Amino acid sequence: MLKQVRAKPRAGAETAPREVDRALPKGEGEGLRERTFVMVKPDGVAKGLTDEIVARIERAGLKIVSMRRMRLDRGLAEELYSVHRGKDFFERLVEHVLSGEVVVMLVEGEQAIARMRELSGATDPTKAAKGTIRSEFGSSTTENVIHAADSAESAGQETRIFFGKPKIL
Ligand code: CMP
Repeated sequence: MLKQVRAKPRAGAETAPREVDRALPKGEGEGLRERTFVMVKPDGVAKGLTDEIVARIERAGLKIVSMRRMRLDRGLAEELYSVHRGKDFFERLVEHVLSGEVVVMLVEGEQAIARMRELSGATDPTKAAKGTIRSEFGSSTTENVIHAADSAESAGQETRIFFGKPKIL
């Protein structure tokens, strides 16, 4: 069912092969299958945490459909965080994600959006639940290792920014 297709990324994003499948049919008795956008931030990449994060996602039973290591440009960073434009931390956040390489991922599975938020933990690492990625590895609300889309709407928007429009094949 999965087919290898060429992504049509927005201007500024890198080109990479990706996989897109059909309309994610729900099997009998199966829960809600979703896709979400996840990014290992520059502090996570610099600390060598990418493999650890991939392992945690896979151990949680979620599938990484596509993954790419890249550097964001300012347009892409500001688009990703556009809902935070005007907030006092916006510039700090954008500067941080521009400060080094990131790893972007398209993650799929049952309740993938909520489960990735659970794995990540609260924004502030000091308040994140024990055992979560941010609790174990984050150092501040800005350098908190990982970004995971916070709603179905953001997941759709962020996925489109980095992986292009889903294709019905
Ligand atoms: P992320 O999941 O990438 O999505 C938005 C980011 O904004 C969040 O992680 C934090 O890094 C940052 N952020 C949110 N709230 C604050 C805050 N109060 N102070 C600083 N940064 C914040």
